[in-house]
Amino acid sequence: MNAQTRQNLIDAMHGEAYAFAKYMLFAEHARRSGHPDLPDLFEKTARVEHLEHFAEEAELADIVGSDVANLRDAIKGEAYEIDTMYREFAVQAEAEGEQAAAARFREVRDDEMGHRDAFTAALQTLEVARTGRARRA
Ligand SMILES: [Fe+2]
Ligand SMILES: [Fe+2]
Repeated sequence: MNAQTRQNLIDAMHGEAYAFAKYMLFAEHARRSGHPDLPDLFEKTARVEHLEHFAEEAELADIVGSDVANLRDAIKGEAYEIDTMYREFAVQAEAEGEQAAAARFREVRDDEMGHRDAFTAALQTLEVARTGRARRA
């Protein structure tokens, strides 16, 4: 696939995933604020963003591979968040006196370590099942 088109698909998927998550929060808010038709509208729209727009773009961009490939991809993503993104965001927030954000970035980073480790363990289990021995992730 053309590199620019593939990048555009990935950018679009980020937007669709963000819209899905945001609309789910909006639905939750609408439920609490007593507007009875709004939660359904937000959730119905969120489902289309996720199960149609995101999923169809993911298929074109070939995002989903074998379970082993998916675990490797997931480990790479979590590692980026741990080693680069949340590490740097926490340092920057700290430097700017944004204590709440700094603490949140550090906490989320800890969670991502758990995700990375669980994916790594699952990958090793799959590798052992496939080859009879573990390989380095
Ligand atoms: Fe959409
Ligand atoms: Fe994660």
